[in-house]
Amino acid sequence: MHFRKDCNKLCSYLLLTVTILRMGKVHIEENVTTEKKTEYSLVRVKGTWTRKLGKKVNKDKFDCVSAAKIYESVSEKGTSWTVVTPIVFTYKVTESLGLLDPSNDTLLLGHITDSQQMEDIKKTNKPLKRFVVVDQEVYKIYGPKLTEYLEARNVQYKILALPTTEENKSMEMAMEILEEVNNFSLDRRTEPIIAIGGGVCLDIVGLAASLYRRRTPYIRVPTTLLSYIDASVGAKTGVNFANCKNKLGAYIPPTAVFLDLSFIQTVPRRHISNGLAEMLKMALVKHRELFELLEKHGRSLLDTRFQGDNSVYRCNHLDAPSQATRIAITTMLEELAPNLWEDDLNRLVDFGHLISPALEMKVLPSLLHGEAVNIDMAYMVYVSQESGLLSEEEKQRIISCMVSLELPVWHQECTMELIQKSLQDRLKHSGGLVRMPLPVGLGQADIFNNTSYEILLKAYEKWCDELSMSSQSNCDP
Ligand SMILES: NC(=O)c1ccc[n+]([C@@H]2O[C@H](COP(=O)([O-])OP(=O)(O)OC[C@H]3O[C@@H](n4cnc5c(N)ncnc54)[C@H](O)[C@@H]3O)[C@@H](O)[C@H]2O)c1
Ligand SMILES: [Zn+2]
Repeated sequence: MHFRKDCNKLCSYLLLTVTILRMGKVHIEENVTTEKKTEYSLVRVKGTWTRKLGKKVNKDKFDCVSAAKIYESVSEKGTSWTVVTPIVFTYKVTESLGLLDPSNDTLLLGHITDSQQMEDIKKTNKPLKRFVVVDQEVYKIYGPKLTEYLEARNVQYKILALPTTEENKSMEMAMEILEEVNNFSLDRRTEPIIAIGGGVCLDIVGLAASLYRRRTPYIRVPTTLLSYIDASVGAKTGVNFANCKNKLGAYIPPTAVFLDLSFIQTVPRRHISNGLAEMLKMALVKHRELFELLEKHGRSLLDTRFQGDNSVYRCNHLDAPSQATRIAITTMLEELAPNLWEDDLNRLVDFGHLISPALEMKVLPSLLHGEAVNIDMAYMVYVSQESGLLSEEEKQRIISCMVSLELPVWHQECTMELIQKSLQDRLKHSGGLVRMPLPVGLGQADIFNNTSYEILLKAYEKWCDELSMSSQSNCDP
């Protein structure tokens, strides 16, 4: 694959090191070994790739010059080759209202970026072939519309409706999908698998697709608010394993994401609040206007399930649902695109995700993901205020906003012990630093590594004093 310098592309770099050492007789070596290093470019002439010495090669002389390099190192111990090959991922996130309207071809053709390929498809009369996996609950509501759409577009299709619940988010379900995909025998280059559902469905299908023939393109159509603004726009796929969330997975982005807000109108109210928690996270860490929008219109977004006035939308005067979701998505993409494989451990998007995984697993299934995240964020807001990073008034505004979005702000199982244990685990898995994102004012955050136990405890006591009454349970540090 060739590296193209294009700011619109989402890219990651893969470094492969291939080392082959010659076996020889055991002998005592001198301390000083001489090593000769050589850098090679890779060029293609008449279909064959060959190494060319040096950094600079004359591009006009070859059919193609790869961005990959081979570094050869020769010493008395043997020869090693280091391969450095940039990998470019390109994926498109597209808003498209009326995705299941037969006159809308986004679902079938929206992922195609090559104009020649598009022309060829439109010219030929051959029916398109698509394998579609749908969340069973979504299928109950939208199944007839989906079938009608595929029939109207003369698609050769298979719809697989599955109970993609958090409890079923397993390798077994990924295998079930793979069996069916294999029976359907699709062409992995031109027939992407389509996933329609919430974050669970999109994560499982994404993993299955990235395993099938080592990587089959897939399309995500999110149908919950959480997956609309969060799970669908990133590169991660996964299933639960060994009692841990998303322990098996891959960083393989979809080939395209199609966003249709009208799916959200049937999402249960509690799940809308759940999605609003992740939206509030982006507002708190990097977008003050989004915070103010949620403060003002959050409750009405919840009441109307993000269904705005389409005529206003079409005039490009954005209504609150479009504005809020667009900001959430663009801010999320800004944080994800340069760090698609999460190599940089200082991630602001981890706000609310330090203590919540342990809390979520501890009380499973009573808290939804966004609810656990919100409880974590509420406590961290107290840590910020105690550290002098947030004023009392700012703290109050954030907590009031959370309450207006019908999100829990405290939980009896979120004990000081659980907080400490989570932060210690974080140290282990984050290169020895806790890397705690904390708000510093409204719509801004920073990463902190040295918050003292005293501050954590004081914040905890104040958090319990002020907010435990919002739940009926007692505070037990
Ligand atoms: N890959 C990522 O980057 C990423 C990011 C965040 C979350 N996630 C994952 O996403 C999952 C949570 O996603 P979720 O909150 O969407 O949960 P979910 O997929 O379980 O969906 C929630 C519920 O809503 C129902 N539903 C879905 N769409 C509906 C619709 N339009 N109308 C009516 N009901 C509908 C589903 O059947 C389900 O009962 C977690 O497993 C989490 O790990 C992944
Ligand atoms: Zn999350």
